[in-house]
Amino acid sequence: MLDAGAIGHLAEWERETRSSIIFRSANGATAEDINGKIYLDMTSCSGASPLGSNNTLFKSRLAQAMKHEPDILPSPVSEQRRILAAKIMEMLPSNPRVFFLRTGSCATEAAVRIARHRTGRPVILTAGFHGWHDIFQQSPWSDNPPANDRHVQDFQYDLDILEQQLSENEGEVAGIFFTPEPTAFSPELLQEISRMARLHGVLLMVDEVLCGLRYAKGGYCRKHGVEADLITLAKGIAQGVGLSVVAGTADAMAGADRAYLGNTYLRENRAFVAGNLTQDIFEEAEIVARLAEIGSALKTQFQTSFERSGIPARILGSDTMFDIVLPSQRHGRAFAQRCLQHGIYTGYPGKYMSNASMDDIFFSALLPALERALADYRKDEDMAAQITDASIVEYFAQAFRATEKACLSNKHHWA
Ligand SMILES: Cc1ncc(COP(=O)(O)O)c(C=O)c1O
Repeated sequence: MLDAGAIGHLAEWERETRSSIIFRSANGATAEDINGKIYLDMTSCSGASPLGSNNTLFKSRLAQAMKHEPDILPSPVSEQRRILAAKIMEMLPSNPRVFFLRTGSCATEAAVRIARHRTGRPVILTAGFHGWHDIFQQSPWSDNPPANDRHVQDFQYDLDILEQQLSENEGEVAGIFFTPEPTAFSPELLQEISRMARLHGVLLMVDEVLCGLRYAKGGYCRKHGVEADLITLAKGIAQGVGLSVVAGTADAMAGADRAYLGNTYLRENRAFVAGNLTQDIFEEAEIVARLAEIGSALKTQFQTSFERSGIPARILGSDTMFDIVLPSQRHGRAFAQRCLQHGIYTGYPGKYMSNASMDDIFFSALLPALERALADYRKDEDMAAQITDASIVEYFAQAFRATEKACLSNKHHWA
């Protein structure tokens, strides 16, 4: 057994049983730990790898390109960056100015800074997860935040709370920052928030770090006709290489001209090369359509296995990103534990995300693993417990801090 300190133990990041798994290799949606145990990854590497790990086409093109491309340049303004910016502009024509960063959290923090500079106002009203940076660690995202930013206020997807925050902070609000959770909320929620943002003269900021490159071609806002001022993107841009974007209207991005957003490692040309190659593959192989097709098969697999085993479970969400809700947190945690034990890499709450490498071999390995996990789960847990509205409310509260009212007023969407 390796010493946890020596290997940089990730207990603080993955607090559940997952932290005991130490991966050695991965291919497609399959990964192997240091003991030779195989896992089937339901997370698409937390959404960062829509092509799957070690994608042969991507890796060989990257190796080929890097024979003549520089690894790093003296300035972050490069030809490859310019080419990638043009691709993103094409994807998001209403948000034609882009600024690149490294991680999803870099992008969300930069979006806040840009909004504050653009409006000269400090308050951000937020719903959903935006990453690990201090500004987003206020309660309830952190139980005990050492630096509480009173200018960042969580409305928990609840329009009544948002309305109240908008009026209490009149003249002080820079923007509303919303993370789409397509499992729980209908597009009308964001459309209504967009209307409120316009009415109050504040910016609409949408965090598409997770969903932007997988939910639909052009992302969530474009799919549902919402005109956001600022959109953040990250996962999947460069097939696992750290790269993120704030894309905005020319007007909102004027805030970037006055903000300091300097970033040493945007000089790393390789990330932009990887981004361009990834986006080319997305186009050529119609990856977004493929993610939906495979995601639909993944959902069906879970649905059929739950039904065959007589286990109450609800599978909610879109084909490319969905959630599995069980009667209670206790049931959910037990299910995730059984999945891990039988080599299915997931968590509870957890987002199930397809990747383009999930083929017949993957599905024929998933079926028996899932049946074993479900048989054990069935043996240990109370199967009389049903899934009620309370189960769903509890899940959405745990997963993204939505209030009960926010959940129930979207019942038409998830019921
Ligand atoms: C919606 C959303 N925003 C921001 C982030 C933060 O991204 P990162 O972990 O790359 O900093 C995440 C990460 O999961 C996310 O899902």
